[in-house]
Amino acid sequence: MPYTKPVKEPVMDYATWLKRQNDKPSIWTRLLSLRPIEEEKDLVIDHAYDGIKELNNPVPAWFNFLFFGTMIFAVAYLFYYHIGGYGELQDKEYENEMAKAQIEKAAYLEKSANTIDENSVKFDNTPTVLADGKTVYNTNCVVCHGDKGQGIIGPNLTDEYWLHGGGVNNIFKTIKYGIPEKGMISWEKNLNPKQISAVANFILSLKGTNPAGGKAPQGEKYEAKDLKDNEMKAPKDSVNKADVSK
Ligand code: HEC
Repeated sequence: MPYTKPVKEPVMDYATWLKRQNDKPSIWTRLLSLRPIEEEKDLVIDHAYDGIKELNNPVPAWFNFLFFGTMIFAVAYLFYYHIGGYGELQDKEYENEMAKAQIEKAAYLEKSANTIDENSVKFDNTPTVLADGKTVYNTNCVVCHGDKGQGIIGPNLTDEYWLHGGGVNNIFKTIKYGIPEKGMISWEKNLNPKQISAVANFILSLKGTNPAGGKAPQGEKYEAKDLKDNEMKAPKDSVNKADVSK
């Protein structure tokens, strides 16, 4: 391409530039609904204080809208919550939420109680649980274990010796699955997990009561270091550990 000289634009004078700038009112001017400075003489209000004149620049509509809006809102709010009492105040709302949570919690506990198994069952000696357990015991277990757990056909449940492991987890497991070949049935079908858990805890509460005519201890001594101990009785190993050569 052949070289072409740059075209020299004529320099714009300030007045033309200014006019161009003022063609459109700026956002700011529009927001504040300011009138152009040229109209100043029409805006002057007919008074002056210490030589200071005032312009009639009305407040923008949007501002008035917000301003009166907040007032109307405040009055409505006051009436709704404080005078009319239609709405609930924070304290009341809090109480309602707590009541709702209480109901949900009860429902949850009810549901989770029925999912208890031998691994998740917990030691619990609250009087209501023990009372529930006693009821279950009296209706189902007395015939074989005696009214005080002293043992008749079934073993003594009040001593520290257990055929199938002591502690709430083992006892729960024994009751749930039973030892059918030895005459202790599985209670899984007749009792729900909550009842089994309650009766297991009731049996734990009999420990050391030493009822009259108690059957002689059977099984191994089970020493629960901690009643909340979760240790399960391991299934009998077919390999005798002593026979295993190292
Ligand atoms: C028909 C008689 C009978 C009934 C009813 C019965 N059991 Fe038993 N139970 C037995 C016998 C027998 C054993 C011993 C099983 C064995 O020798 O391995 C036993 C064992 C147990 C053991 C294990 C004891 C240990 O030493 O490990 C527990 C716990 C137990 N029963 C709880 C209950 C509960 C709770 C009920 C009621 C829901 C109940 N039993 C109802 C007969 C019964």
